[in-house]
Amino acid sequence: MSQVPDSVRKEVEQLRADLADHAYRYYVLDAPVISDAEYDRMYRSLEELERQYPELVTPDSITQKVGGQIISKFEPVTHASRMYSLENALTEEEFVAFDERISKMLGQAGGMFGNEYFCEPKLDGLAVSITYVDGVFSLAATRGDGSVGENVTANVRTISSLPLRLRKPVSITVRGEIFIKAEDFEALNRSREEAGEELYANARNTAAGSIRQLDSSITASRPLSIYLYSLVEATELGVTTQSGVIDYLRDCGLPVNPLGHVCSGRDEVLAFHHDLAVMRGGGSVNGVSLPYAIDGMVVKLNNITLWNSLGFTAKYPRYMLAYKWPEAEVATRLNDVTFQISRQGVYSPVAELEPVQLEGVTVSRATLHNLNEIERLDIMLGDEVFIKRGGEVIPKIIGRSRRERDGSESVIPLPSHCQYCETVLEKDSERSHNLRCPNRDCQGRLVERVAYFASRGVMDIEGFSRKTAAKLIQEGLVRDLPDLYSLSAAQLSELEGFAEISAQNIYDAIQSSKAQPLWRVICALEISQVGSQTAKLLARRLGSIEKLAAASTEDLEKISGIGKVMAEDIAGWFRDERNMSLVNGLADAGLMMSEEDEDETDSSPMLFDEKTVVLTGTISFASRDQIKEWLELNGAKAAGSVSKKTHIVIAGPGAGSKLEKAKSLGLEIWDEERLIEVMRTKPSRPSTKPDWWPA
Ligand code: IVH
Repeated sequence: MSQVPDSVRKEVEQLRADLADHAYRYYVLDAPVISDAEYDRMYRSLEELERQYPELVTPDSITQKVGGQIISKFEPVTHASRMYSLENALTEEEFVAFDERISKMLGQAGGMFGNEYFCEPKLDGLAVSITYVDGVFSLAATRGDGSVGENVTANVRTISSLPLRLRKPVSITVRGEIFIKAEDFEALNRSREEAGEELYANARNTAAGSIRQLDSSITASRPLSIYLYSLVEATELGVTTQSGVIDYLRDCGLPVNPLGHVCSGRDEVLAFHHDLAVMRGGGSVNGVSLPYAIDGMVVKLNNITLWNSLGFTAKYPRYMLAYKWPEAEVATRLNDVTFQISRQGVYSPVAELEPVQLEGVTVSRATLHNLNEIERLDIMLGDEVFIKRGGEVIPKIIGRSRRERDGSESVIPLPSHCQYCETVLEKDSERSHNLRCPNRDCQGRLVERVAYFASRGVMDIEGFSRKTAAKLIQEGLVRDLPDLYSLSAAQLSELEGFAEISAQNIYDAIQSSKAQPLWRVICALEISQVGSQTAKLLARRLGSIEKLAAASTEDLEKISGIGKVMAEDIAGWFRDERNMSLVNGLADAGLMMSEEDEDETDSSPMLFDEKTVVLTGTISFASRDQIKEWLELNGAKAAGSVSKKTHIVIAGPGAGSKLEKAKSLGLEIWDEERLIEVMRTKPSRPSTKPDWWPA
């Protein structure tokens, strides 16, 4: 072991203290005193010293944010105090009612200036609870069901603005919101686009997905931000107001939202709410604009010593409110309507809009669903239309403005021929009101089919995007799905935009997808209505494509879970010669055409033969997905909610309303012990037990 000179030890300590101080000035005070380059230089010096003297590395060193820790599952964490959610108000009247109820309950008219509230933007991200012990970051958990969340410590540790050591050696649990700033989200998507990867649909889901990575270096690569807004031990620490909580958090070195402030009385709350609405729409107030998406304003009674006396409704605290807005709408011009083709050849219209800001993001496209929608909205090219964010991903047109047309508008032209293969388009079906390309060999359709084939839920070929599919087809290298398997790494590397390494990676990913289980291959066949659930059922029941292809409508109908229509569709699909040639092509390519262990797939009864099972709470030894997969492999139908039709409810620690309901319905309930007992004593599939199997 190398001897660490005292001077080095001192230098390392000094560097850490300086770096922490600069990070605090940068992230919390928003007032850096050195340049980014200088900061990076100091950071690298520390890194270098830690490399030379690894014994000096401490878990709270700023260099320990890069991730790299890989876990196999998220352990459950029981929250020290419940993480509630908030009651919503959409209108001024609803906010006023909230304010009046508080005044009444407190037996006062709100004093001369009304109640004092602490107000701040309601960020659209995911809530997290973080524990520091003696000032050192030690645990982070998601909200989960409010009582029990998941341990995401390794991932939260990587968030750059979150200190691993507080400026005070206190033991506290704090809560806040993890989110991605609009600018960071756009940059992330730009780099994905360049890499030919699929784009993320929205910042919120990307933030949530980043925190649920098993490999923390992936999380570290995502531009996550965090603002803290609550302190569990406030009262014990003698903090009596929400503004005091925020000051306390800031003094600890934790990032808090700089826009939060006290509003005295209704009018100030309403004024701030108005300002936030302006900023949220992309505008600025006093030179300040919002760099992130918000979905409301959180209004908290500032005096936290009164919180207890107000208490909770069944679901929410009575002293806080999420004051939102009726969904935002903006007007813009409809420039064009383009059409997107699906795997089945259906043409769906997409509105191309004059780019406009909506809730902090630039919108240039909107869904139009189908041709009927165009008729219903009565829109023409050049019209001024209103859009809103329906749900959250792609906005939609809600109608056209009352502004009078000036004659420059034109009727939306409908295509008569396929834009890829020039086949005459047909009407899709009586119900769908869309056009459809009937050519099964259409290149446009093929791109979608290949992309679907490679997608996560089907053959799961990593790194293979829609763009990859489009290129391969354009170059004539892929004419049908089985062709993917005869591509060589050399052919892939010749494609434009493909470096040698990425070509080799994609080649490897394609080849290893040959080992994907039978159900994925069944999914890949695109038999109408057969998704992953049905594919799993068919794989389990029949065990091979050969048997599936030989099954008659009657045979299939006998399988519980397969209805008459589906049975007909499946049997009909295999009667089509072209479909059979696809099956043969995939078999020749070396894909799995039967379950690995065919004896296990006979029709002998399975542990949960067709029983509907609901999993609730947490299971300490495995993730929900692992248990769910095991249940399904053993014939269970895993359901999300409890009803009279449920056979068994497996309730781990932290189970709440679902367990209550199961009790009231008198259902069979298993606790974790019972589950473990069954797992240990009853034979079940697979025969080789997974690594999470209870010891
Ligand atoms: S205070 C009782 N403050 O909104 C819950 N929540 O709908 C205390 N949120 O789960 C929450 N920004 O994830 C609070 N400034 C903010 C917030 C905020 C976003 C989220 C949070 C919470 C959800 C409640």
